[in-house]
Amino acid sequence: MAKSRIIIDCDPGVDDAIALLLAFASPDEIEIVGITTVIGNVSLPLTTRNALRIAAMAGRQDIPVCAGCSRPIILPRVQRGASVHGTDGLGDLGMPDATHPAQSRHAVDFIIDTILREPGEITLCPIGPMTNIALALIKEPSITTKIKAIVFMGGAAFSPGNTATDAEFNIWIDPHAAQVVLSSGIPMTMFGLDVTRHATLTKARFDQLERDASPIMRTAIAMMRRYGSGDPALHDPCVTAFLIDPTLFNGVDAVIEVDCDQAGAYGRTRAVENGDGKSQPVHVITEVDDERLFQLIDQRLRLL
Ligand code: BDR
Ligand code: CA
Repeated sequence: MAKSRIIIDCDPGVDDAIALLLAFASPDEIEIVGITTVIGNVSLPLTTRNALRIAAMAGRQDIPVCAGCSRPIILPRVQRGASVHGTDGLGDLGMPDATHPAQSRHAVDFIIDTILREPGEITLCPIGPMTNIALALIKEPSITTKIKAIVFMGGAAFSPGNTATDAEFNIWIDPHAAQVVLSSGIPMTMFGLDVTRHATLTKARFDQLERDASPIMRTAIAMMRRYGSGDPALHDPCVTAFLIDPTLFNGVDAVIEVDCDQAGAYGRTRAVENGDGKSQPVHVITEVDDERLFQLIDQRLRLL
């Protein structure tokens, strides 16, 4: 399988951090050409700070980090809050700050410039709200046909959401952005709650991770222990795992509609059979071999 050259657009976030670490640990399958950040789990300054901290932890200061949008397109939203990812977004472990800075270029311009420089080569991986991706498509529409694919975490096509109005968090923060991206016609693979809520860390899995853990693994484990409640779901790592081994997953094709009506099910994503006749179907992942996914994560994180 050819190596995927990707931009990860993220809002770290504990599970974003694990998705990044999994990609760093898989250089044969994934080359990260840049990390762009967006408001989401915490504010933009914090998601940017966290992307830099994770890159530094893995010794990947060479990868450009660019800050993007600090609010959704239409409705300002408060971020998720401390209960899921901690007040700093990485479980409040007191992780050291990176010594390298973010680039001065805006994330939207970084995305546009990279796609134009390498048409047909770059896969976009949004694992937070889609504001940066939507604005890149609006600012420079010619990139639409030059993006190889989009593989994203967001939505819930056939199952309940995890926020108000039955929406999934990433889409609920900025449904208008999601609507722009999902109606773009770009080949797309969706990792929604349909599949990601089945990728959980059980006690037995924590025990396995802890065996002979390296310092980076120990930090990752401590972060995950403070993340979510009960058995934490590895939402965002599903995206990078798919690029490493797509045989872990199965899905179906469906047109996805986003509800942007504030008086309706704001932010809900629904699979519809025929759609509007114009929208291109998305490949909606519905199944994961969660044991093999976990073994992959365990093996790869040990390489860091
Ligand atoms: C999504 O919301 C965020 O809290 C996670 O990082 C993930 O991207 C799951 O709904
Ligand atoms: Ca995320």
